Amino acid sequence: MNTDHKHSITVIGLGNLGQVLAGTFLDQGHRTTVWNRSPGKADALVDRGAVRAATAAEAIAASDLVILCVLDYETVREVLTPAAGPLAGRALVNLTSGTPQPARELAAWTAEHGAAYLDGAVYAVPQTIGTSEAFVLYSGSLNVFGTYKDQLGLLGKSTFVGPDAGLASVYDIALLSGMYGMFGGFFQSVALGDSAQIKAAEITDLLVPWLKAAADALPGFAREIDSGDYATETSNLAINTVGLANILSATKAQGIDVALLAPLHSLFQHQIEQGHGAASLARAIESLRRKAVVG
Ligand SMILES: NC(=O)c1ccc[n+]([C@@H]2O[C@H](COP(=O)([O-])OP(=O)(O)OC[C@H]3O[C@@H](n4cnc5c(N)ncnc54)[C@H](OP(=O)(O)O)[C@@H]3O)[C@@H](O)[C@H]2O)c1
Repeated sequence: MNTDHKHSITVIGLGNLGQVLAGTFLDQGHRTTVWNRSPGKADALVDRGAVRAATAAEAIAASDLVILCVLDYETVREVLTPAAGPLAGRALVNLTSGTPQPARELAAWTAEHGAAYLDGAVYAVPQTIGTSEAFVLYSGSLNVFGTYKDQLGLLGKSTFVGPDAGLASVYDIALLSGMYGMFGGFFQSVALGDSAQIKAAEITDLLVPWLKAAADALPGFAREIDSGDYATETSNLAINTVGLANILSATKAQGIDVALLAPLHSLFQHQIEQGHGAASLARAIESLRRKAVVG
């Protein structure tokens, strides 16, 4: 890499997130080149000292470190394909949200064009970029991560999770799955409260501390899953399956759809049928590992 350009950074994609990424580099005194499909979105950054590139290829040519933050991977390909020429020797850091396989394919495509690839999953909103709340998981080129650690560190806490470019997306999907599961529980909870004229806010006041306390059970479950030892003397699968069946029937009786909870009951029930009723609730994961059992 050309160390003369070590503090030149290009940001391609100036949507809500990309504008803040570029602004953060500018604020720290880095020479920042920007390009966006709709050029007007670069105006405020140019007023603050950014260099406007006329094309994506020109933007890539301007810096050794190229940050990409567009809508999705299809857009990444659309932007990069006609701009592949100047990629050779560059470090491409893609902060566009995606999934593991396209990230791996993009890493391979980037390598074919002589560039190194680092994929990043951003856990922040534009307002928290650069604060202690923001963190970014990276996978792919360890060399890129190491070389540009200081620059990447300006965005938030940076963690390298492995050389497989798809790994950051795997983590991303895992964390988001947990989040959506929690949202599903919230919707189910509020719908039930609503059926008894209880306001969502009232349920939520009780639910938030309850969920925080329940989250304390997760590290214990994780230890059981990692060790494969599901022996328990407390709340086992059988007890939880009876409890969940009660919740399902009471919810139906209130006229509320159980679409979000019923698959969980099927998962527990499958373990009971396999003779694991006395095992820890965490053993439910074995039914997910068996795929196609639910749904
Ligand atoms: N915002 C967040 O809080 C956040 C947090 C974590 C991760 N992310 C991820 O970061 C990425 C960008 O998010 P964002 O919030 O900045 O999105 P956004 O505000 O919707 O911006 C989308 C960007 O993609 C560009 N784009 C869309 N289609 C294009 C095309 N066909 N050709 C060229 N450029 C195109 C847009 O250009 P135009 O301006 O020309 O439309 C714009 O620069 C997404 O993958 C998102 O999931 C966002």
